[in-house]
Amino acid sequence: ELAPVVTIDGPSGTGKGTLANLLARKLDWHYLDSGALYRAVAWTALRDGLALEEREEESLGELARTLNIRFEPAAEGPVRVYIDGQEVTQELRSGPISEGASVVAAMQPVRDGLLELQRSFRRPPGLVADGRDMGTVVFPEAPAKIFLTATAEERARRRYEQLRAHETDVTLERITQELRQRDERDAHRNVAPLRASEGAYIIDTTNISIDAVLAEALERVRRCI
Ligand code: C5P
Repeated sequence: ELAPVVTIDGPSGTGKGTLANLLARKLDWHYLDSGALYRAVAWTALRDGLALEEREEESLGELARTLNIRFEPAAEGPVRVYIDGQEVTQELRSGPISEGASVVAAMQPVRDGLLELQRSFRRPPGLVADGRDMGTVVFPEAPAKIFLTATAEERARRRYEQLRAHETDVTLERITQELRQRDERDAHRNVAPLRASEGAYIIDTTNISIDAVLAEALERVRRCI
């Protein structure tokens, strides 16, 4: 029998990662950060000198299918990510990799290449999966689906605060512009465009604390599972 899944989708900066992490800890379930997989494809391609262009679609798809990635939950802070044994946790968050991830994510062979890997995270006692198409494509039969939204201004502000801790040359203006571009590409691409799945429970996180979001999500999950 398949383990239960909670899907958490939405654009960047809505607090998906934070919520998914907290929810997984609270339920003591596995956690899948699917965005990290797209980031990992971009990172590996750049390492191997593979252009993030349409003519390389098939090679990028193959790269996705054979990705050697490992997640290691840390006692505190974000889950650590390793590619071919090298720790890349912080590098995956950089501007160029965010951009690259969104480029490769628009390629069907890359999305297909990551499908099996993503589904393999579904193990007992359960999985919390965060991304853009968890409820629509990867786990369409998930018993509990959540979709987070927030205004573009608030999302840019959060991303800015996050990045400012590690990078010195960030400006709110640049982050806002990059976020808009990425949203635009994620929402309008032909394959798996970002949208709320049918039956998804929508939470607008613009003006509520993460604790309030968590409480609402937990209540929803307990009602559905
Ligand atoms: O969530 P995160 O910002 O880490 O995702 C990076 C990029 O990966 C997104 O901008 C999006 O283009 C892509 N992505 C996706 N489908 C997912 C998760 C991420 O297309 N399920």
